Amino acid sequence: MSVQELLLLPENSRCADCGQAEPVWASCAVGVFVCLECSGVHRNPKIGKVKSIHLDYMDHDIVQFLQSHGNRRAREEYEAFVPPFYYKPTEKDCKVLREQWIRAKYERQEFRSGAESRYTVDFKEGVLLKKGKKKGQFLERIFIFSESGGLLTYYTKDRLDRPKGKFPIETLNAMFQCEKLELEHGLEITCVQGGRTRSIYVYHKSGEEIVTWYNVLRAARFSYLKNAFPDTPEAELIPKITHNYTKSGYMEKTGPTQKERFKKRWFNLDSEERKLLYYKDPLDPYEQGAVFIGSEEEGHQVTEGLPSGMKGNKWTAGITLRTPQRDFIFTCQNSAEQRDWLQALRDITARPMSTHDTGGRAPENNS
Ligand SMILES: *[C@@H]1O[C@H](CO)[C@@H](O)[C@H](O)[C@H]1NC(C)=O
Repeated sequence: MSVQELLLLPENSRCADCGQAEPVWASCAVGVFVCLECSGVHRNPKIGKVKSIHLDYMDHDIVQFLQSHGNRRAREEYEAFVPPFYYKPTEKDCKVLREQWIRAKYERQEFRSGAESRYTVDFKEGVLLKKGKKKGQFLERIFIFSESGGLLTYYTKDRLDRPKGKFPIETLNAMFQCEKLELEHGLEITCVQGGRTRSIYVYHKSGEEIVTWYNVLRAARFSYLKNAFPDTPEAELIPKITHNYTKSGYMEKTGPTQKERFKKRWFNLDSEERKLLYYKDPLDPYEQGAVFIGSEEEGHQVTEGLPSGMKGNKWTAGITLRTPQRDFIFTCQNSAEQRDWLQALRDITARPMSTHDTGGRAPENNS
């Protein structure tokens, strides 16, 4: 077979590592077809050489090697024992997650045997850089995860101090925020405390270390969820381990009387928890307010435009979110943003409420 013929096989139609369609590079060390971005991680002395399918000459031996390996066999070998909690990145994920996935698979070969996973630990301690109050300020903090305590805590210098923050595994969430933080290894960790969502932002200069923390927290969340919901199938628990905001960005909003001047706020839409959180600054530790979004059957409705006679401030593309308590009025910067927000909000109101949703209902702390 020629390389072109190999690429036509369904098993080689997507990048072996992130799933992007139409891979254009081949790894001569592991014999897989990958996309341009993932090929950059493969091109590394510890994993091996890569060749461009369209530009590089491939001799008979290499083609033979690719034929006898390929994406399906590589997956069977290198992904034989990926733990269910391990986050397998897609093409949409930030670079650090993809890079560490590739290194974990081929360089450290973490998933070739069923040995105890390095992420399933009772205890982990380490120093992470945590965003401080001042702009651009990051401070060294000691982070401690304890499985038996069901808790992630952090301390200033001395572990004997009282912890500066406690994140119970029960409500903990973690997601990479490379763009919002303008840091390649930037991670947001949140938990719900007294009905409000607390966020901290951390990073580590080593990509391996920050992704390890992320998967240690995921392993702990997964084991908590399995205990808490023993009758729920694993496949339904996996999306609840940690989740990304569905959409984030600026909108303007008015207040409860709808006569208040529209003010620009940063919004995070948490579809999993059915919450729209808003902030003065995107990196604030707590939201200024939160709107719980129920289902249509419960009287929650999203419509395009502003109520008649109402004008926005700078922005005019309006959205009205009706809840049984009150209407929330927002304006978006342009019609593309308005369309995306409408779609994301309607996806939630169209989804019937489950028992999980009512358990996590946010108190109405909006202003
Ligand atoms: C979540 O979203 C951010 C920003 O859009 C992205 O960089 C990241 O890779 C996503 N996934 C995870 C698992 O954090």
